[in-house]
Amino acid sequence: MPDKTLDRLFLETLKDVYYAERKILKALPKMARGAESPKLKAALEKHRDETEGQVKRLQEVFELLGKRAQGKTCDAIEGIVAEGEEILEEFKGEPALDAGLVAAAQAVEHYEISRYGTLKRWAEVLGMKDAAKLLDANLQEEIKTDQDLTALADASVNQRALEKAG
Ligand SMILES: [Fe+2]
Ligand SMILES: [Fe+2]
Repeated sequence: MPDKTLDRLFLETLKDVYYAERKILKALPKMARGAESPKLKAALEKHRDETEGQVKRLQEVFELLGKRAQGKTCDAIEGIVAEGEEILEEFKGEPALDAGLVAAAQAVEHYEISRYGTLKRWAEVLGMKDAAKLLDANLQEEIKTDQDLTALADASVNQRALEKAG
């Protein structure tokens, strides 16, 4: 494959995050169902809905590039989601479950923040203003979600995790 330019890198990374978002779309309801705290459940459900909008924005970016929206297996998100599933199983019914779920969800957000931060910058460098705007919209939602999760952890979840089981 020729053309190993920034355009190419941009497209490949876009496919990576597109794959990741669709994986997350399936993972968030499972995490929401598993969460004990109604507030954490609500936060995860809200972000599932936002994620649907994020997938649509990514489809718009593909359209701007004149490319078919297509994912490329992202091993990083596979691993991050698998770790979240492990927490769900291992801490089921335990006081520390929600603290583990918040941590797992934040690992997802941090991955997304990293990807969108890079993609937005590259879109700017490549002169793709509209794409940069769409990517920034996703980035801001991920940052807000990460902050909301930190607030939840501080407000109740981490304290609850200190309690003894049973
Ligand atoms: Fe996302
Ligand atoms: Fe997210």
